[in-house]
Amino acid sequence: MSSQPSTPVAGPVSGPAAAHTPESLRGLFPVAGQPLPEAAHAFAPIEQRTCLIDGKLEEWPGEMQQVFSPIGEVDAAGGFAPRLLGSCPILDEAAALRAVDAADRAWADGMGAWPTMGVAERIRHVEDFARRMAARRTEVVRIMMWEICKSWQDASGEFDRTMEYLRDTIDALKDLDRASSRFVIEKGIYAQIRRAPLGPVLCMGPYNYPLNETFCTLMPALIMGNPVIVKTPRLGRLLYSPLMEAFRDAFPVGVVNILHGDRRIVKPIMASGRINVLAFIGSSTAADALRLAHPHPHRLRCVLGLDAKNAGIVLDCADMDLTVAEALQGSFSFNGQRCTALKMLFVHQKRLDEFLARMDEGIRKLRIGMPWDEGVRITPLPVPGKSAYLDDLVQDAAAHGGKVANSGGGTHAETLYHPTVVCPATPQMRVYHEEQFGPVIPVIPFTDIETPVRYVVGSQYGQQLSIFGNDPDDVARLIDPMVNQVCRVNINSQCQRGPDTFPFTGRKDSAEGTLSVSDALRCFSIRTLVAAKGSDANKEILTSIIRDRRSNFLSNDFIL
Ligand code: G3H
Repeated sequence: MSSQPSTPVAGPVSGPAAAHTPESLRGLFPVAGQPLPEAAHAFAPIEQRTCLIDGKLEEWPGEMQQVFSPIGEVDAAGGFAPRLLGSCPILDEAAALRAVDAADRAWADGMGAWPTMGVAERIRHVEDFARRMAARRTEVVRIMMWEICKSWQDASGEFDRTMEYLRDTIDALKDLDRASSRFVIEKGIYAQIRRAPLGPVLCMGPYNYPLNETFCTLMPALIMGNPVIVKTPRLGRLLYSPLMEAFRDAFPVGVVNILHGDRRIVKPIMASGRINVLAFIGSSTAADALRLAHPHPHRLRCVLGLDAKNAGIVLDCADMDLTVAEALQGSFSFNGQRCTALKMLFVHQKRLDEFLARMDEGIRKLRIGMPWDEGVRITPLPVPGKSAYLDDLVQDAAAHGGKVANSGGGTHAETLYHPTVVCPATPQMRVYHEEQFGPVIPVIPFTDIETPVRYVVGSQYGQQLSIFGNDPDDVARLIDPMVNQVCRVNINSQCQRGPDTFPFTGRKDSAEGTLSVSDALRCFSIRTLVAAKGSDANKEILTSIIRDRRSNFLSNDFIL
């Protein structure tokens, strides 16, 4: 048990040796003039001058943006110099519209080679890409580690999860295709019902899963026959460099276009009216702006993963070992930078002291450091100004009666922010409402279960929820009302997206459309059928088309 106070204490405290101070946090960064360890997988700056447009790696002659790591070198004079990782194009509107033209040509009003290609052949292109991608694993992982500071282990996990998602997507499409290979005969009408592509897709993934959550929409969109424009995430864009040639070589001209840039390119792409699907994972404000830029919003299908502020409810019957382990994981894995992170904890008053003490004890065991450090759990934050933002949230909570409840909480240096528990949180505080997306977790004590229930019902978000408790009656009482508020109720487990075959979505401002290996295939396609009255003449026509393989759509080829 912790020797720390079990009730909240004011401000960052000087705790036992294990607790960090700003100086000790600074001491975790590389020191100027000293070599980096081999595990850092350091690399020389990458000048990524090209973008993939219309099957060509176009050399960009214009404005470039330097890409810095959240990791910097500290020096004895108190300086902090973020490491330069390379540079990427900031494309302009004309380049963006060239990509739209390219995708449009590949679509060719639905008559292009890619949208009309047989499923088996499209799968061969994706498998070819997967082989080329697998060969670049180490480069992608090390760039990801330096760009967004995901630990080496987690960045490798993100890469492997993406490869697995690709393989599962191929298998799911084979299943879907096999199920659609038969004819349906109803009321004398013969029909073959399949899924057809929708048209050009704009794919934009988030910085916290820059590879995986871009590919989770990109790959299903592609494999269903849609040409795609990818706008790389604002952070996590250099990691696309090792994959550019694979995209160019594995897919027909114009089918995949990869752009670097900012809102100056995405607005014109949407305003062109030639995007049929927006696949976006990020904030609801940005998603709304993109959707509204489209001149025909009713023609635009949106697949959106948006904001969330998932709550954990710790009942008085909770198993505290298990609850604290899940709360630590849920609140602080990848520094709390997950849409599924636990961002609000309601703890029954009877268990509050015990919970806070155990959280304090658990946090002190979380290793803080550089992403290459063995077993590291807390790493530098990639969003510029994030430490200052989190500090503002903690200060605002303090101004409204909240206390930092763990040793070292509130401490920060440069881009490192110590995990912080704030208690008691109240509706007057910003941290009660804002999605912190960082290692600060507010705790609200309750005695009446209506307190967390009212919070969940009144929230503008509706992604997931966790209930921690061992009494089946108490847990069951919450399940039925809560499943109509969020899209996944986790029992004695943190919130999470996976396994990737499970449906992942949200209510209210949290999502639009459902992602999972099989749901994503449906999101990027529409059911379309070829039907004919069952006259002898029609049956002969259908038989002849199928027998002589005259159509890719109307076919009973069975993909094994
Ligand atoms: O950031 C949002 C992700 O969808 C979270 O995924 O639960 O697998 O970390 P995860």
